[in-house]
Amino acid sequence: MDLVLRDGFVKCFPFCYAEHFFKQRWLSSRPHLRVLVQDDKKCIVGNVSIVIRDVFVGDSKLIVKVAGIQGVFIYPKLRGTGLGHKIMKKAMLVAYEQDRDIGLLFCYPYFENYYKRIKWRKIETNISMQNEQGDIVLIPSDNISMICSLKKNNFPPGDIYLNGADW
Ligand SMILES: CC(C)(COP(=O)(O)OP(=O)(O)OC[C@H]1O[C@@H](n2cnc3c(N)ncnc32)[C@H](O)[C@@H]1OP(=O)(O)O)[C@@H](O)C(=O)NCCC(=O)NCCS
Repeated sequence: MDLVLRDGFVKCFPFCYAEHFFKQRWLSSRPHLRVLVQDDKKCIVGNVSIVIRDVFVGDSKLIVKVAGIQGVFIYPKLRGTGLGHKIMKKAMLVAYEQDRDIGLLFCYPYFENYYKRIKWRKIETNISMQNEQGDIVLIPSDNISMICSLKKNNFPPGDIYLNGADW
């Protein structure tokens, strides 16, 4: 399965990440769960990876149980038929069943409308993470942050610390 998954990542994220996915099937944080789409020949043609993480919010470090979404892809030949939205909805159901409070993802701004259609919304809160050197830094500024209500509707007020690397 792992090689088929690699093939999917390499095909679907060709410009910036393909080389990286030859080494591992995730970006900065290893996911705990995956929701997959298989075709009729049992090939993996779609993926959503879920990072289970308890993050800290505000000065009093309130814990929020987050489902971090990463690695969303559908094979090119199957795009535009609603599969992408379907797999995301299934992933959020899985996250809900894992007792997660809120879904959190980072994406390029041009994906905002795509995720908005399945009830995700952009947040402007400061979000920090731990980088490879162990320093606490803000997440990369070329991404926007989007959330989806699960067991809770929203983050409490305050800056969010990812309690580790981003995803
Ligand atoms: C994003 C992706 C998963 C969508 O899969 P899909 O099965 O085509 O999704 P759906 O059929 O449910 O929805 C299609 C909609 O997504 C939109 N969409 C697809 N790619 C998009 C992109 N790069 N930017 C903005 N919108 C995009 C389409 O315009 C379409 O909108 P429409 O319904 O108004 O026509 C797929 O295009 C993909 O694998 N892309 C490469 C990997 C990637 O960039 N993943 C997202 C990381 S945040």
